[in-house]
Amino acid sequence: MPCTVIVCGFFGDTGKGKIISYLALKDKAAVTARAGVGPNAGHTVVYKGRKYGLRMLPSAFVYEKCRLLMGPGVLVNPEILLREIEMTRSENRVGVDPQCAIIEQHHIQTDKGGHLAQKIRTTGTGTGPCNAERALRTVKIAKEVPGLRKFLTDVPLEVNKAIDEEKNVIVEGTQGTYLSLFHGTYPYCTSKDVTASAACSDVGVGPTKVDDVILVLKAYTTRVGGGPLPNEISEKEAAQRGWLEIATVTGRKRRAAPFSYDLAKRAVMLNGATQAAITKIDVLFPECKGLKSYGKLPPKAEKFVERVEKEIQVPVTLLGTGPGALEIVDRRS
Ligand code: GTP
Ligand code: IMP
Ligand code: MG
Repeated sequence: MPCTVIVCGFFGDTGKGKIISYLALKDKAAVTARAGVGPNAGHTVVYKGRKYGLRMLPSAFVYEKCRLLMGPGVLVNPEILLREIEMTRSENRVGVDPQCAIIEQHHIQTDKGGHLAQKIRTTGTGTGPCNAERALRTVKIAKEVPGLRKFLTDVPLEVNKAIDEEKNVIVEGTQGTYLSLFHGTYPYCTSKDVTASAACSDVGVGPTKVDDVILVLKAYTTRVGGGPLPNEISEKEAAQRGWLEIATVTGRKRRAAPFSYDLAKRAVMLNGATQAAITKIDVLFPECKGLKSYGKLPPKAEKFVERVEKEIQVPVTLLGTGPGALEIVDRRS
């Protein structure tokens, strides 16, 4: 901290929601600004015995003093956002930039048919067609939506002011490096860049203002939708290993593969990562469940972390040992 960008180093669903909720609580983040594409994301936050599936609102909502902002680069589905605001009772601390583009029913309809649905196997949430319309400069923006009026705020100004006042700020990326329109597995990718630089641009933070980029990796790799997944294993094998996950937004089964050192290494480069987090260590090594201290990890888990650090050349500072926001080993000094 003060300004930390969180992004995923694989194909999304690595547990950014959990890492962000932990950091917000632990570091008392004053502001979290959501970056990324829009409601195609599904972040899971487990806190105080409740499980939240969030598609729009920053995962930092668990820290009650944190401002929850939507950067101008993010696409907003007002219905989903308003529902999440109500669910989390966060009305008095949410801010939406007037320039956020708005997803409408016809975007969703287009996304649910043709090549987007059949070939790319998108989430069907309307984000691709909405970004296409944004590029044509015909899309509706947040300042034109009466239901959002009370939330409108200059997000880049708020975020930069907090950074200048040396408050802790989180920039919350979504999706994953290899879903990026520029750096991912084109055409099997999302509708814009989603690396750390894009996340900064989404919320109006310049590159000189960032202190840390945390790359979130998972102890194995998963992917939903079409496109290549190196060393993919069968669904049966994934189920046997305990790696079979169900997607938060679409309910689809996630495809799985072992941890990829090559993808992780390249993701460090593409995002300028300064640290990495690895979630689901407890799935690979069940003895790690709920641990909070590195010294208690079994030698094989320690060995895995050391190998990752050797390959990617940045420190692995956070280890997820369970779905709960506080089930984490924090090695930051
Ligand atoms: P996108 O922005 O959609 O890419 O999502 P995400 O990165 O926030 O991940 P998502 O919440 O979709 O998926 C991660 C899943 O793993 C969720 O079900 C989390 O509750 C769970 N999870 C996260 N960290 C850990 C961990 O360390 N251990 C275990 N067992 N589960 C975890
Ligand atoms: P779209 O972003 O809905 O257009 O989908 C394009 C591709 O990205 C599809 O393969 C989706 O499954 C994938 N995708 C988009 N957002 C996420 C996410 O948040 N997690 C995982 N996969 C995603
Ligand atoms: Mg997800």
